[in-house]
Amino acid sequence: MPVSDELKTEVGRAVCDSIQSGMRLGIGTGSTAEAFISVLGEKVAQGLDIVGVPTSERSAELCRELNIPLTTLDEVPELDLTIDGADEIDPDFCLIKGGGGALLREKIVAAASKTMYVIADESKLVEKLGAFGVPIEANLFGIAATRLAIKKVARQYDLIDDINMRMNGGEVFITDGGHCIVDASFGHIRDADALNKSLLSIPGVVQHGLFIDMADKVFVAGQDGVEILERKI
Ligand code: A5P
Repeated sequence: MPVSDELKTEVGRAVCDSIQSGMRLGIGTGSTAEAFISVLGEKVAQGLDIVGVPTSERSAELCRELNIPLTTLDEVPELDLTIDGADEIDPDFCLIKGGGGALLREKIVAAASKTMYVIADESKLVEKLGAFGVPIEANLFGIAATRLAIKKVARQYDLIDDINMRMNGGEVFITDGGHCIVDASFGHIRDADALNKSLLSIPGVVQHGLFIDMADKVFVAGQDGVEILERKI
């Protein structure tokens, strides 16, 4: 097993110690979240009594395979804790998410949770966000106009205007919500708050992968074990 897979399992085990019976959990998406889901499945088999809302069809399928009880936000509109991965994490716990294409459900689920814990390996910690492109979920209708509007926002903030459609085997990648993703390689983002607002003001943009003021703790796996970082207030 490559080291990174071991680290993902290790951080999955560490975050599971925060889960108590009776909790309503948001369950993330991506390879780190999948390692966590596997550990959660073991805990459920040992008697941990939780119910989860998965953030993607893929995570839902894995949960079902492991007999993790699932519900929906329609049944349970408020959750105790969401556990999810991230593509980048800055010192203020601003995140880039959506590398796996699940950012819309991830953001809805995290926003419905009292707390959000992020699980990652130390390669995800950055001083400034933006080396990883910001995934932007957009409506397919008028996508050329939406991409142009995103480019204009990039220029407004002096960012790189390299905006690409995400593809999957020659076809446009389609999210669980039936939208497409454009990956915006902005380069270093100086003002995530302002960029957030400007992107959301574009009518064709459904949501984007900047998660601001959402994460409460970050569990980081490194060669010396798992470190738990708390958000500075
Ligand atoms: C899924 O859409 C993403 O937000 C993931 O949480 C993120 O891409 C991290 O994925 P990995 O754990 O696979 O790096």
